[in-house]
Formats: sequence, structure tokens, C-alpha cells
Amino acid sequence: MEEPNLSVEISGFRMKNPLMLASGVLGISIGSLRRVHEAGAGAVVTKSIGYEPRVGYDNPTLVEVHGGYLNAIGLSNPGVKEFCKELSRSKIDDLPLVVSLFGAEPSEFKDMVSMLDGLKIKAYELNLSCPHVKGFGVEVGQDSRAIREIVEAVKEESGKTLFVKLSPNVTDMVKIAKVAEDAGADALTLINTIRAMSIDTETFRPILANKVGGLSGPAIKPIAIRCVYEVSKAVKIPIIGCGGVVDWQDAIEFFLAGAQAVQLGTVIAYRGPDIFEEIKRGIRNYLITKGRKSVREIVGLAHDF
Ligand SMILES: Cc1cc2nc3c(=O)[nH]c(=O)nc-3n(C[C@H](O)[C@H](O)[C@H](O)COP(=O)(O)O)c2cc1C
Repeated sequence: MEEPNLSVEISGFRMKNPLMLASGVLGISIGSLRRVHEAGAGAVVTKSIGYEPRVGYDNPTLVEVHGGYLNAIGLSNPGVKEFCKELSRSKIDDLPLVVSLFGAEPSEFKDMVSMLDGLKIKAYELNLSCPHVKGFGVEVGQDSRAIREIVEAVKEESGKTLFVKLSPNVTDMVKIAKVAEDAGADALTLINTIRAMSIDTETFRPILANKVGGLSGPAIKPIAIRCVYEVSKAVKIPIIGCGGVVDWQDAIEFFLAGAQAVQLGTVIAYRGPDIFEEIKRGIRNYLITKGRKSVREIVGLAHDF
């Protein structure tokens, strides 16, 4: 049996395998993103960058709960100017790097892209879905007009591949996904974390300083699978699945639901970057067992039923 083909291409963005590092889990240091790529990731996404620097929320910003983590980091980041300096002093031309951006206004996204575009970034991922920062993320991500204007503004400014990361914290995700597709998104990343909270029974206080945060990890996987399944039936552009992947079976489930690639986030905290090789091996063996030649061949197979 010939070796199955694990490589995927998402609207011109090529990856040697369909596994990506999800945004936020490892920050923006190009050195640490490169190490994850060397450990086996097909592509890496930076933590979300905004126009101005932000310190984020007070601690605690992260708490472990059954089935995952709850976080409210508050989009802490050094701002786009500082990030451009980090990029210019690093060698990135051989790195499948996706820069994640957040903002409140189309003009902010446009300005950030105009500063970044000359650097050797392969793609952008617009974070229109952070569940716990007022004025950004979900507030933008549930507003069809804001999504349309932001995606159009970025497409006007840049010819690079554009992923749009959407929130499950909306009434009708399919509708929002179609707006992003119509506005020019090249692919959709589904999903970001889900609004959630946790309370300390001794002190009666919400545990996170921000009270509300975003739930990630295995607890959200069935929700993410449902989102990928429904949205991939309704749009023509590729879907990148994200949410609760901890092993190769989870990755396969996302492909069957309709995703062409998957992102790993919380599992990196549990298992470190070696998980990429382990999941890759599992996917390869599965494809051989099922007599399939490539990942592409199994994308969306669950739609047949
Ligand atoms: C600590 C932490 C920080 C995150 N920061 C970001 C971020 O900056 N931008 C973003 O789009 N998503 C961010 N996310 C969401 C992840 O990229 C991912 O969508 C989510 O965690 C679900 O995937 P997972 O269950 O594999 O972690 C963050 C998640 C965690 C746990």
C-alpha cells in the first residue's frame, strides 16, 4: 500500500500535514512557533495581535475545569508595531505562519494588514470570535455588517490567504459563515472558545478575575463537530476545525464532519508539541486501514448519511 498523502492546500496555503497550532496557546515568539512546526505541525497560528498593545486581565486568567480550561486572558499582546519588529528580526520565509488579528473596526484591520503585508507571512486568521473582551471578538462576530466590512477591508488591502475564525456564541452560525464567505473569506476556522464561567464554592466568588471566560478542550468537541458539519454543508470554502482535539480519532472526526485541516490548542498544555507526530501517525494508519490515499478523500464523508 502506498504511503497516504497527508498534505493539504487551503486556498493556496500549503501544509505538509493537516494539523495546525491554534491561536493563543503559545504566544507570538517566532522561536517557539518554529519549534512547534519542527515538532510536526503543518502550520502555526500566532496569538491574536491587535493594533495597540494590551496588558490583558488581572489573574486568575486561566482555570482547569472538567474537560478543559476556562480562560479570560483579555487579548494581551504587544501591538502590531512591536510584532512587526519580532517578524523582521526572525527568519520566517520557510515557516507556514498564520498571523491572527483582532480589532474593533475595519480600518484597524486594514492598517494592521498594510503594516504586515510586506513581511513573509503566508496567511491571516481574523479572530472575530473572542468570547470575553468587550468591543472585540464576539461583539464583532455576531454582527453580520461588521463581519462583512472587516473581511472586505482586509481583502482589499491584501492578496494573502484569509481565514476567518468564527464564534459558536451566536444564534445562527451558518448565516454568519455565509456572510464571511460572501465577503471574500478564503476559509473558515470553527470554533473559538465558548462563553462559560466557574465559581469557587468556598469564597462564593467567580474564579476568573473577568468572571466570564472561554471554555476550551475536550468538553467543546461535540459542539465544534456540529458547527463544522452544519457550516461545511452550507458553504463552498474550506473549513478548518478546532475545539477539543486530543487524539487522532478526534482529528478524523473533524475531517468526516467536513474539515480539511484541524487546529490543536488545549491539548498542547496537556501533552506538549510531541502530540503533533502522534496524531499524524494515527491519521496515516487510519487512512491505510481504510484504504484511502489522502486526507482529502475522507473530508465530509459523514454528509452522505
Ligand atoms: C489560553 C488560551 C488562549 C487563547 N487565545 C486565543 C487568541 O489569542 N486568539 C484566538 O483566536 N483564539 C484563542 N484561543 C482559542 C483557541 O485558539 C481555540 O479556538 C480554542 O481553545 C478551542 O480549541 P482547543 O479546545 O483545542 O483548545 C485561546 C485558547 C486558550 C486556551
